[in-house]
Amino acid sequence: MDQRKRYAIVGTGSRAGMFVKAIKTYQEVAELVAFCDVSQTRMDWHNAQLGVLSFSAEKFDQMIADTRPDTVIVTTVDATHHTYITRAMELGCDVISEKPLTTDTEKLCAIYDAIARTGRSLTVTFNYRYSPAYTQFRKLVMDGLIGRPLLVDFSWLLDTSHGADYFRRWHREKQNSGGLLVHKSTHHFDLVNWWIDAYPKSVFAMGDLSFYGKENANARGEQYDYVRYTGEVSAENDPFALSLNSQEALTGLYLNAEAETGYLRDRNVFGEPITIEDTLAVTARYSNGALLSYCLVAYAPWEGLRVAITGTKGRIEMDIEESITHLLGDGEASASKGPFKHTRMRVCPMFGEPYELEVPMGDGGHGGADPVMLEQIFDPNPPHDPFNRAATHIDGAASILVGIAGNRALETGALVQVDDLFPLTAHMAQKD
Ligand SMILES: NC(=O)c1ccc[n+]([C@@H]2O[C@H](COP(=O)([O-])OP(=O)(O)OC[C@H]3O[C@@H](n4cnc5c(N)ncnc54)[C@H](O)[C@@H]3O)[C@@H](O)[C@H]2O)c1
Repeated sequence: MDQRKRYAIVGTGSRAGMFVKAIKTYQEVAELVAFCDVSQTRMDWHNAQLGVLSFSAEKFDQMIADTRPDTVIVTTVDATHHTYITRAMELGCDVISEKPLTTDTEKLCAIYDAIARTGRSLTVTFNYRYSPAYTQFRKLVMDGLIGRPLLVDFSWLLDTSHGADYFRRWHREKQNSGGLLVHKSTHHFDLVNWWIDAYPKSVFAMGDLSFYGKENANARGEQYDYVRYTGEVSAENDPFALSLNSQEALTGLYLNAEAETGYLRDRNVFGEPITIEDTLAVTARYSNGALLSYCLVAYAPWEGLRVAITGTKGRIEMDIEESITHLLGDGEASASKGPFKHTRMRVCPMFGEPYELEVPMGDGGHGGADPVMLEQIFDPNPPHDPFNRAATHIDGAASILVGIAGNRALETGALVQVDDLFPLTAHMAQKD
């Protein structure tokens, strides 16, 4: 009898590709049994050489009944994750969900309710944790090199290629993605939670749509009247233009599927509507008393991060300029363009000489993170992980709650207590 673990993937856009390849890599222990999506074209594109069964979204229950997956991998649009997470659990499956776990507290409660009712397990794929550089940063903080962390000073820059991409497609509407504070910053808030081993208690945020969007372009005296880029002659010299004819995957996954779902992958970043912010500043206080000062900008000339944690015994700093432009979320583009460009990690003991440390690198998507994470997920006997990188539904909640609280602060102008939105402290107590 085939003892392999059975997987179904719901949401067959670009990110699904990473899981398809991983299951193939681990085919001795893992089997892909089904796809599910609103687009038959996208399922067919992934399925070209696989021949697994495909089911339209409304036939999700039938897919589970017919193909009996052990685990459902959810790689749909963020605001739909909860639908498949909860239903898969109700039908007896464990779930692996892409980040962000979900986009608001109502959906988060539905997920927690399903876990409580069914006892099924949920893994959130926080791949950044597995990047050798970020793992080393965690190790140094956890080893006590800087004493007790007191202040995290964190800037993340998205460039005019990758950052702009969030303004070309579904992410640009908050109802789909929760905005960048949820969709993108969930990675960064998860890193902070994990680095300092604490969880957020109160959050304040300010943010604007300052660069993208029609109004901002017009205010700068620029005019871009097209709805989309592909086939638009007047967009030829537009540095923000993306042609869906430029890569086979973009054509096969998106251009060829437009008639089915109307999903445009290449909308004008200076068009309308855009309901998310591109410029964000967040302040948060953590359960261990530490403070966070965080900013995100989505139109920077380079992409990467600057982070420093100052503690009772010193300060640790990490600067990373990523060389990647990952328009396709499957890690391919980043893998092909090699590791991070410029890196620096420096330790400044409070009364000692500062010294620099080599920043470890790995091959593969997201600075070498994706393959390490996939080994932990799919290998039945993964190497021991002393860094506790596997993220649960509690880690998933702790990271999005900074963004959700930040969104609430954007709406109200007030400091938000995370426990007023969701009983995170109570869940953390259960975890410990
Ligand atoms: N961890 C990472 O680094 C990383 C990178 C990229 C994407 N992601 C995550 O992966 C997910 C997918 O992102 P993507 O870039 O592949 O997007 P995408 O637009 O390429 O794919 C989304 C897919 O979901 C499908 N879909 C939409 N609504 C659906 C519904 N109601 N039911 C079933 N299918 C539905 C779409 O048809 C599409 O095939 C997102 O949650 C995103 O945050 C994570």
